[in-house]
Amino acid sequence: MALEIRTRSTTYRVAATDSGSGLRALAWGDSASLEDPPAPPTVAGFDTPDDLLPHEFSVDGTRHVLASDLRVRRPDGTGGALVRLEAKPTLESTDDGDRLSARLVGDGVAVGLTWQTSRRHDVITRGTVISNTGGEPIALDRAFTGSFNVPLPEGAAIDALSGAWCEEYAGRRVLLPAGTFQIGSRQGVVSHLWAPVVTVSDPASSERGCWSVQVAWSGSWQLEVDATSRSGWVRIAGGSDDESRIVLRPGESFEAPPMVGLWAPDPHEAARRWHEYERADLLREAPRSITYNSWYATEFDVRADQQIALAEVAADLGCEMFVLDDGWFRGRHSDAAGLGDWEPDPAAFPDGLTPLVERVHALGMRFGLWVEPEGVNPDSDLYRAHPNWIHRSPTREPVTIRNQYVLDFGLPEVEEWALATLRRLLTGSGVDHLKWDMNRAITDGGPDDWSVLHTKAYHRILDTLRSEFPGVTLEACSGGGARVACSTLGRSDVVWPSDETGPRDRLAIQHGYLSAFPAAAMSSWVTHLDGLRDPRPASLEYRFAVAMCGVLGIGSDLTQWSDEERAIARRMIAVYKEIRPVVLGGEVTRHGDPRAHGYAVEYSQDGSGVVIVFGAPGVADPVTVPSRSLRGRLTAHLGEGGWTDDGLVVRMDPVIGAAILVADRDD
Ligand code: GLA
Repeated sequence: MALEIRTRSTTYRVAATDSGSGLRALAWGDSASLEDPPAPPTVAGFDTPDDLLPHEFSVDGTRHVLASDLRVRRPDGTGGALVRLEAKPTLESTDDGDRLSARLVGDGVAVGLTWQTSRRHDVITRGTVISNTGGEPIALDRAFTGSFNVPLPEGAAIDALSGAWCEEYAGRRVLLPAGTFQIGSRQGVVSHLWAPVVTVSDPASSERGCWSVQVAWSGSWQLEVDATSRSGWVRIAGGSDDESRIVLRPGESFEAPPMVGLWAPDPHEAARRWHEYERADLLREAPRSITYNSWYATEFDVRADQQIALAEVAADLGCEMFVLDDGWFRGRHSDAAGLGDWEPDPAAFPDGLTPLVERVHALGMRFGLWVEPEGVNPDSDLYRAHPNWIHRSPTREPVTIRNQYVLDFGLPEVEEWALATLRRLLTGSGVDHLKWDMNRAITDGGPDDWSVLHTKAYHRILDTLRSEFPGVTLEACSGGGARVACSTLGRSDVVWPSDETGPRDRLAIQHGYLSAFPAAAMSSWVTHLDGLRDPRPASLEYRFAVAMCGVLGIGSDLTQWSDEERAIARRMIAVYKEIRPVVLGGEVTRHGDPRAHGYAVEYSQDGSGVVIVFGAPGVADPVTVPSRSLRGRLTAHLGEGGWTDDGLVVRMDPVIGAAILVADRDD
C-alpha cells in the first residue's frame, strides 16, 4: 500500500517492499502532475525483484544490489544485518505537515527512520537513528541517513558547487549516465571544496524538473549520486562521511545528520524553495545589522582608541553594529600566539573591553566580538596547561595549520571549558553578537568518530548559547565559507560565505551560494580589496551593490575614506535600509552570468521589489533584465531604467558599473 506525504506543492510516495525488507520509493514530484512509478525492472539472471528497488534505506546483509546506507561490523570481523520492517509504518498528518515513521529491525540492529514535511514549504526532512539492540559492540563502517530516490532511467545531470578558499560555490555540472558520483568533506568542517548539496535532473529534458538534496551537517559529510543501470532510478544517498566509524555499545544509538530534499520545476525555483524553507524553518527573527568589522582595517594591531575612532565613523555612516575581529585577546599580536586565551589583551585594552563596548553602544550600535573557540596556538597559556585537549592521534605528531591546533570538542572537559568561556564572554559584557570562526581543517584524527563527536558538541554549544542568550546574534564563519550548511543556518543568524571580498569575484561566489542558501543570512562586506581572480577595478558604488545583495557590512579602513567616499557610503546605506526587507525576505531571481556585463539579481515580493544590476568596467551598453515578477513605478537609486515588453531596460554609468532600481506595484 502506498504511503504518501505532502509538502506545500509536492508529493513523496513510498511503499513497503513485498518482501518486508524496508521501504521503497514510488514517486516524488509536483502534487498536481505526479507521474506513475516506472515499471519495475524485469528480473533475469542474478537479481531478485527486491534487489533493484529504490530502497529508502539499504542495509548491507539485507539483500539488494545497491550501495548500502548502513554497514555493520561485529567484533569477530563479520558484518551485515538482515533487517525487516518491524511493523506497519505510521503516518501522522496535521494541518502543518506530515510525518512518516518506520523502523527496521534485525540482527541486533534497529533503524528508526522519519520523513517530515511542512505545508509552508517544499522540503522533506529525513531523520535516522541507528541503535545497537544486541549484546555486543558493533562498528558502523557506514552510517548514512538514507537515500532519496529519483526516477531517472537514463542517469542524471548533476549540479554541484565546488570551490576552494576564496573561490567557494563555483557551479559544476557532471553528466552521470551510470555509476557513482561522490562528494563530501573529511575535514571536520563542511570545507571549501564542496557545498553539501547536489541537484539532479534528467540529462535529456528539463521538463521533469529537478531534485535537490542537502546534508544538514557542520562537520564531515558525504553525498553520493548512484545511477544504477537497469534499476530505472538514481539514488542520492548521504549523511556522515565514511571515514568516521561509529562504535555502538549495547543499548547505544547514533543519530545521523539530517538530510533535506526538494523537487522543483527548475533550478531557479529550487533555489527559491531552499530559501523559503531556510527562512521558515532554520533562520529566526533577529536583527541582521549593517555591520562594520575592523579586521581588514587593523588586523592584529588593535587598540581601544583606534577601534573607537573606527566605530565613530561607522556610526556616522549609518552602520548598526561594530564588530571587533581577531587580535583583541591576550598575546594575540599575530596568528602565531594567543589563540585560546580569551581575555582582553592588557596592552591593547588596559581597561578591558568595557570602554569600547560602552562607546559603541552610546553611538547607537550593537557590539560584536570575534572568537575561534576551537582553535589553540601552541604558544598560548591554554595549550601549555592542557596539551592533551587537542585532536591528536597517539602515533603521530599533530600538525599546525595557520600556526594552530584544534581543540577536541569530543572531550567533555573541552566542551565544558568552551561553553564556560563563551558564557563568561557574554554575561554582563554588553556583547550583542559573536562571530564564531574556525580557521583550519581538522586533520589529526583521534578516535574513529572524532568528527561526529566534535560536530555534535559544536551544535550543542550553539544551541545552549541561543537558549541562554537569545538576544545575542551569531555569524558562522570558517576561513570564509567552510561551514555553511543548513545545520549552521539553523544555529546562527548570518554566515560568511567567503574571505574573498574583491567585488567581481565575490559576486560569482554569491551567485553560487544563492542557488542553495538564503540572502537573509548572506553576510557581505564592502572592502577596498581587489579580487584574487578578477582584479579589474570596481567603483565604491559597485562594491556596495555587491554587498547589498545580502546582509550589508563594511570592512575597509574608514579613517582613510575621503569625504566623497563617506557621502557615497551614507547614501548607499540609506538605500539599503529601504530595500533590506525585500532583499532579505523576497524571492530571488538571478539573471545571467555573474562574470558578464549585465548580470542582475532581482528580489520580489507581491510584484514589488528591487533589481541590482552589475556591469563590466567601462562598458556602457544597456542591459535588459527579463524580470517576470516585477512591475510598477520605478525609482532609480543608481543608474536608470524603464519597462519594455522584454523586461526592465537598465543603463549604468560605465565608471560606476552598477544600478539599483526599485519597482513599486502601486495597485
Ligand atoms: C578568518 C576569517 C576572517 C577574519 C580572520 C581573522 O580568515 O574568515 O574574516 O576573521 O579569520 O583571523
